[in-house]
Amino acid sequence: SRLFRIAIDGPAASGKSTTAKLLAKKLGFGYIDSGAMYRAVTLKCLEKGVQVTDTQRVEEIVHHTNIRFPSLGHVELDGHDVSTAIRTSRIVQNINPIASNPGVRATLADQQRSLARAQDPAWPGFTMASTQEKIGGVVMDGRDIGTVILPDAELKVYIVADARVRAQRRFDELKRKNALAQGETVEAIAQDLESRDKADRTRKASPLKKAEDAVELDTSHKTIDEQVEAIEKMVYDRL
Ligand code: C5P
Repeated sequence: SRLFRIAIDGPAASGKSTTAKLLAKKLGFGYIDSGAMYRAVTLKCLEKGVQVTDTQRVEEIVHHTNIRFPSLGHVELDGHDVSTAIRTSRIVQNINPIASNPGVRATLADQQRSLARAQDPAWPGFTMASTQEKIGGVVMDGRDIGTVILPDAELKVYIVADARVRAQRRFDELKRKNALAQGETVEAIAQDLESRDKADRTRKASPLKKAEDAVELDTSHKTIDEQVEAIEKMVYDRL
């Protein structure tokens, strides 16, 4: 059997996680949401009353933190489901010092690489019709997957989308989940996304960047299904 790893990077709200999740489901692959790991560490610090800027304390905390993905779309922090708790605006407002902390990144990088090697019965993969060969693997999304975490991934995709389209999508998503803050506008969301992207692009430790060998996919005018199909085709073309 063959291992096929798909690295998906790109700015915030570009459609990475929705696409990655559906793609993983279709291929029978695992889905590893690296952003959820930074979010979970941020949540733990806030709950413990640890300053996110206290580099050393945060590094210690990460060493004693257990993050798991028990099923598609679910995140567990030290045995508790935090799938919704990590999605609040309070988390992203505090995440940058955590994501910029090289010690945190090194520890999470080890965990992400070992998750990408894991054999999980819930990730059966698929069998190629032509050769009967079994293909297993993972889809991992984030900011530095193609550049730092899995530089030898079998496929790297860099997803981009117009800033306005991304803000509108995030607005619609929050509205659908009944999670829109009072008075929150598309413009305010656009500004939040822009400042987070700027922080992610300009930080020293593993900044957001397109890997040289990544395929760029602009999703501004694509539906989710079209995005998933486009990447699926890239997978089959590489087998
Ligand atoms: O992907 P998501 O928007 O959930 O990520 C939240 C934040 O976590 C990003 O804005 C970024 O600061 C950080 N992150 C990162 N490296 C990754 C994934 C996420 O620094 N691989």
